Amino acid sequence: MPLSATSDRDSHKQDPQPRLPKATFTFRCIGCGAVTSNAAQDFRCSQCNNLLEITDHSWKLSGLSASALKSVWRERRSSNAALDLSGVWRFRELLPIPESERHVVSLQEGNTPLYDLPQSSRSTGVPRLYAKHQGMNPTGSFKDTGMTVASTFARQAGYRWVACASTGNTSASMAAYAARGGMRSVVLVPEGKISWSKLSQALDYGALTCQLRTDFDGCLRLLQELVRRAPVYQLNSINPFRLEGQKTIAFELLEQLDWQPPDHIIVPGGNLGNSSAIGKALLEMREIELIPRLPKLSVIQAEGANALVRTLREGGGKQLVRVQAETRATAIRIGNPASWEKAVKVIQATSGACEQVSEVEIAQAKAEIGAEGIGCEPASAVTLAGLKKFVRTGFVMPDESVVLVLTGNLLKDPDFTMEFHRGDLFSGTEHKGDSDLLNPLRHPPVVLDATLEAVIQTLERAEKSDPTHPNV
Ligand code: F0G
Repeated sequence: MPLSATSDRDSHKQDPQPRLPKATFTFRCIGCGAVTSNAAQDFRCSQCNNLLEITDHSWKLSGLSASALKSVWRERRSSNAALDLSGVWRFRELLPIPESERHVVSLQEGNTPLYDLPQSSRSTGVPRLYAKHQGMNPTGSFKDTGMTVASTFARQAGYRWVACASTGNTSASMAAYAARGGMRSVVLVPEGKISWSKLSQALDYGALTCQLRTDFDGCLRLLQELVRRAPVYQLNSINPFRLEGQKTIAFELLEQLDWQPPDHIIVPGGNLGNSSAIGKALLEMREIELIPRLPKLSVIQAEGANALVRTLREGGGKQLVRVQAETRATAIRIGNPASWEKAVKVIQATSGACEQVSEVEIAQAKAEIGAEGIGCEPASAVTLAGLKKFVRTGFVMPDESVVLVLTGNLLKDPDFTMEFHRGDLFSGTEHKGDSDLLNPLRHPPVVLDATLEAVIQTLERAEKSDPTHPNV
């Protein structure tokens, strides 16, 4: 069947009650600064091939002051209009606007909780420590905040097919939004390197799922070629509409903090779209005086997938240092991150830092977040592991406030959690020797005879072995 990019622009239906401001945005190259009103399929600058970003939002025309914007956004929280129920489109004055509301594809994304972390506060010595839990989005990761915007523009352009390369979460999210928006989706994932949980989401939402015998970087390379050859719309974070939606993670966070910026925001880094998006949001908020000062934005990577760490340490942030990525935090198993230049810019502009953490440190931090009753996937836990390092080096001081962005839900990678608690996460690996310190955090399931006696004895043993449990 031939692929086609039919446009539905010829249907001149008027919105009955338009709620959207007038569409106004342009693309700007992050390298040479060239501005254009149209982007090619690969979202790269036609002159220097660097990535594009979106500029100029409708707030400039709206005449709204920063305080007026804040009250409009707050009022929308009590509205049941479809656009207002989305924690992304609620902030539409700072987003690219589609031509019509009927193009909007939404699953009521965003609206995620900001939790305190009392146990991790005590263990790190940082009393004002919070987690912005993006794993509470409709498909269980932060990707939904960007996908609602980018899939809206795919639908507006009349695409039949959307596509992405993924370590799992992007594909799950894209498949859901494509299904919701009446489009077909094709996902390219590295065979055997993404969690079943994420793969099963793509299948359930009806994606054409291609497991390629390569890694994520290989999948992304192939996707770039695919979008040049076939009329499929690419929904990786190279797509600047994705990053615009992901900015709302920061807008919503600041709103939850009554617009008082935290001292630090810490995010995991993989392909580096999310850190770029959050950084862009912070700079925009500062520019239009929604916030009085910038938080420091820091990125944490797994030691085995540390391209950005090495780029900053060895290349001064000027030249990407690619790595052959390996980590059990499969979501961030990426060695050739597409948005590295955008990430370097926002880390430097906010005086943030970049750090790496070991496999054992990731596992430990994940279990500690789980012990708070919150839970997250391994890639998200790098944030807490990174914070511990920042406290040790003095980059984060005990009297500062810190927000960790937890990017994915605990249920995204049940194999990791099961192997951790059974004690075989690091069996046969070089990390085995270091992993004994994880034993107190393990809670393996016990198999018992189905008698009351057996259950009571087990309870008593558990009480004796852990009489100082923090919840007691
Ligand atoms: N955390 C999770 C749970 C992720 O799924 C990803 C990326 C990241 C962090 C890193 O974000 O790439 O913007 O720096 N996952 C992508 C995917 C690559 O395909 O799902 P990033």
